[in-house]
Amino acid sequence: MKKLLAGFAVLFLSNTALAECVFDVDVGDNLAYSVSEITVDKTCAEVTINLKHTGTLPATAMGHNWVLTNTADVAALGTAGMGAGPQNNYVPVDDSRVFANTKIIGGGESTSVTFSIADLDPAGDYTYFCSFPGHWAAMKGTFKIS
Ligand code: CO
Repeated sequence: MKKLLAGFAVLFLSNTALAECVFDVDVGDNLAYSVSEITVDKTCAEVTINLKHTGTLPATAMGHNWVLTNTADVAALGTAGMGAGPQNNYVPVDDSRVFANTKIIGGGESTSVTFSIADLDPAGDYTYFCSFPGHWAAMKGTFKIS
């Protein structure tokens, strides 16, 4: 019986490990993410994005964040983010169009965000982008749930 339970435990752990729920995303002194597409497993209870700025420029000059929204809302949120200012990481406060976001980081810094995808639709059209002023048009990627 003990052996059987151990077997179940191993099976459970390996299933958990197989689900893609944690992602490392690098940014640098340019307007690009290291990955242009992220596909999360729909069974993930939570998704974590680890954002790392490998550049040297400060956050005031080349700040980056990671903001998840509907693809259709990227432009409007990018504009609204500029108005929200650096004190809000260029993300509008309490805006329901923002599904998840990190803070703004500069060269040598790291941050992360963990969020639930329970309210997202696997058939939805989602994009992650950087809301630092002037970055949203170029700095973005596709977010999929599979
Ligand atoms: Co940026």
